[in-house]
Amino acid sequence: MRSISSTGCSRFTNSGGTKKPFLQMGPPDPILGVTEAFKKDTNPKKMNLGVGAYRDDQGKPFVLSCVRKAEALIASKQLDKEYLPIGGLGDFTKACAQLALGADNEVLKSGRSITVQTISGTGSLRIGGNFLSRFHGGPKDVYLPKPSWGNHTPIFRDAGLQLKAYRYYDPSTCGFDFSGALEDISKIPEHSVILLHACAHNPTGVDPKIEQWKEISEVVKKRNLLVFFDMAYQGFASGDIDRDAWAVRHFIEQGHNIVLSQSFAKNMGLYGERVGGFTVVCGSAEEAKRVESQLKILIRPIYSNPPMNGARIASTILSTPDLRALWLEEVHGMANRIIKMREQLVAGLKKNGSTHNWQHVIDQIGMFCFTGLKPEQVERLIKEFSVYMTKDGRISMAGVSSGNVGYLADSIHAVTK
Ligand SMILES: Cc1ncc(COP(=O)(O)O)c(C=O)c1O
Repeated sequence: MRSISSTGCSRFTNSGGTKKPFLQMGPPDPILGVTEAFKKDTNPKKMNLGVGAYRDDQGKPFVLSCVRKAEALIASKQLDKEYLPIGGLGDFTKACAQLALGADNEVLKSGRSITVQTISGTGSLRIGGNFLSRFHGGPKDVYLPKPSWGNHTPIFRDAGLQLKAYRYYDPSTCGFDFSGALEDISKIPEHSVILLHACAHNPTGVDPKIEQWKEISEVVKKRNLLVFFDMAYQGFASGDIDRDAWAVRHFIEQGHNIVLSQSFAKNMGLYGERVGGFTVVCGSAEEAKRVESQLKILIRPIYSNPPMNGARIASTILSTPDLRALWLEEVHGMANRIIKMREQLVAGLKKNGSTHNWQHVIDQIGMFCFTGLKPEQVERLIKEFSVYMTKDGRISMAGVSSGNVGYLADSIHAVTK
């Protein structure tokens, strides 16, 4: 049989042969590239702090007991495998919106919002990006915090939006640049889109305080901006699902008709199941119906309808009282383990005699810690200590355990003293 290459025809190379090929080798994904390098390392003490996936205190991937129980319950029902509707599983989208907004939110009672099931948080952001690219009446500019999750830029760019930025992180304090953020937001052209991380900002772990959120809401209102909330970590930040949804609920209370992305990857550990939701809060129930119709038109030619398994698991957990109670306990447990690791890391650095101020490691919240390590220090950590992280000095606290926190503290001290 003739192989494809033996035809001598390469579709993705310029004819003529001397010029650079039209289709060139792309760079590896910066975060997944860290994992590749980690896998090749033979040091038994190696640590992968690049990827944002939770690990238990033995360093193992963690499947929540509530998920195992929900799976058993679903299996016992012998349900069919028919297609879901374009907008997803109704029980799931209802529970998903209630989780974010609070079950007795006026928006839900009046029916002036629409939630569709999405391919986790990434799929939700992309559907949201496509929707805004097609229907947003204002400038097609999305303002991201500086820095933001690395995937935000390609998601919105590929959706046809322009990327802009507002100040967010202050490297001199390893904290929130509140005055810089307010100043930049107050100059954003009216009706543009602003992206806000609802809690556990990735990559910095720095969130505004309640009073600061209130002021941000005021300025955003003055500029008439469309708020796009990305909530990938509800419950994972503080261990309390309501506390982590505070900003989203406050903005709605203040009259912002937000759009919202949700993911169940982290807070239910359903990474590979790809469960998420995209919500549009509208001015009326009638507008919500129109938005729903257009979301369906947008989704249908992309993936037709979403996968059912993860949505069944999430909705079973959210709507079965004892499973929901177990989930809340387990989310709390995951958040607390991370908070404990932050404290132990700082204690280890102090024990080593580090004279730097590491308070930000404790103050930051969620899965990630923006250590403030410089690129050359990160390089030494990788080369000399087999401690892998992204070049910006971000570490996933979820990869730190009682067994390796001491080694991590020793290594960081060695490159920062
Ligand atoms: C800020 C933020 N948004 C969205 C996501 C989406 O993740 P997923 O597509 O796995 O739900 C992530 C995951 O790391 C994230 O950190």
